[in-house]
Amino acid sequence: MYSYYIKYRPYLSPFNSYPLNWYKYYYNFHRPARNGRSDWFTHRKHLMWPHEFSINPLFVRKGEESVQHLRMPNQGAPTENAYKIVRDEMALDGNPLLNLATFVTTWMEPTADRLHLELANKNLINKEEYPQTAAIEERCIRILADLWHAPRPHHTMGASTTGSSEACMLGGLALKRRWQHARKKQGKPTDRPNIILSSAVHVVWKKFANYWEVEPRYVNITPDHPSLDSKGVLALADENTIGVVTTLGVTYTGLYEPIEKIAKALDELQERTGLDIPIHVDAASGGFVAPFLQPDLVWDFQLARVKSINVSGHKFGLVYPGLGWIIWREAEDLPEDLIFQVSYLGGNIPTFSLSFSRPSAQVLLQYYNFLRLGKDGYYKVQKSSQSVAKYLSKAISEMGPFELFTDGSDLPVFSWRLKEGYTSNWNLYDLSRQLRAFGWQVPAYPLPPDMENITIMRVVVRNDFSMNLAHIFLMNLTQAVSVLDSLDRHKM
Ligand SMILES: Cc1ncc(COP(=O)(O)O)c(C=O)c1O
Repeated sequence: MYSYYIKYRPYLSPFNSYPLNWYKYYYNFHRPARNGRSDWFTHRKHLMWPHEFSINPLFVRKGEESVQHLRMPNQGAPTENAYKIVRDEMALDGNPLLNLATFVTTWMEPTADRLHLELANKNLINKEEYPQTAAIEERCIRILADLWHAPRPHHTMGASTTGSSEACMLGGLALKRRWQHARKKQGKPTDRPNIILSSAVHVVWKKFANYWEVEPRYVNITPDHPSLDSKGVLALADENTIGVVTTLGVTYTGLYEPIEKIAKALDELQERTGLDIPIHVDAASGGFVAPFLQPDLVWDFQLARVKSINVSGHKFGLVYPGLGWIIWREAEDLPEDLIFQVSYLGGNIPTFSLSFSRPSAQVLLQYYNFLRLGKDGYYKVQKSSQSVAKYLSKAISEMGPFELFTDGSDLPVFSWRLKEGYTSNWNLYDLSRQLRAFGWQVPAYPLPPDMENITIMRVVVRNDFSMNLAHIFLMNLTQAVSVLDSLDRHKM
């Protein structure tokens, strides 16, 4: 083994992964693989590094020289190599801690990490095989039904999902089926269902309308009504309306929509016309914020018209990605013919979901959070995120170039725009790129119709975004602005 090393020593540079005369082999090295190996590898086996180097990442190890991206290799790689190849590529991704664009949890405490790892091999759908997992999922449903004031939390229906997107699909499907049943009972046609949405609704609702052939009717947001307006809702409602979707924490801005006001408007509509139009609350983010930070806000099952609510466990529920929940007000709000009884899992298991197999770890982590934090803990976590959001939004509003769009009073999310007339040399997209140079990921985007001429920037403050990081962010934001201010537009 050492003889190889000594013999080929002159070809090796300790500072480079290639032999010194690497250019001779360059062409073959990059040729498409034959038999799963590059020609270079096949013909130059004698240049393989001695074994002791195979653990030193300074050197190219067997299997690392050329990685096939689009075909499965014929031969597998050693564990460490495969691990390092994947890890190395991940270094090119943004740092999740500095990702101020995402609502989704990027940090859990080490004990939760341990639990995550230990529970990774359980499939949630195997309810008969893992009855305790099923029991814990059931407990989470009851806890959420209770948190959101369902009249009979122990008897109503609910489900865990992969995220709010799946939960919204299920909520929309239940609305459509309930409407179809009611129409059939009255001997009326069911071929033209519609659903009322804000133009600022999350894209999942546009998908829902498209996939399940429901006409979307949009109430556009305006400067006077930056979130769903009850008058706009009433103008679009008719006997074919399966429901109104309201959002507790609009994705664009973090604003809560006036759900109580919309519910009242629909109550009055029913009194006047007999039309009974239900509300689904998309509380993807707010479902885990409002009960703690705004306990007096009436938005949930306290309003009889709210028939279903979804939330993302993986957003302010503080669980890693892959978890959503939906709860119906009463069992009868979920039509029975949407529920499938599955016998081949052992027992007779009712399911209502779009997927079958799913990881159970996230559900168990949600329960862990309920136990670990309790209501008091959730309050403290969300409160501290909100303090950071408010501190930052105030500081940004005082910087000069910006005016706030939202300040973090609803969700711990705030947004701002460039003051009109401040500069024509740069815009928020330039600022977003400039911040990226520091590692921060802050999105800039236009608002939806009728406010699409306004571009905003948004920051989502999550559990792991500390006040210390907020100070550094502010410093970097100031630096980014002065770099942009100092540039001549023509040179940019
Ligand atoms: C209001 C709203 N609804 C639905 C979703 C989709 O949620 P998920 O990513 O959990 O599928 C989001 C995501 O940001 C959202 O903000």
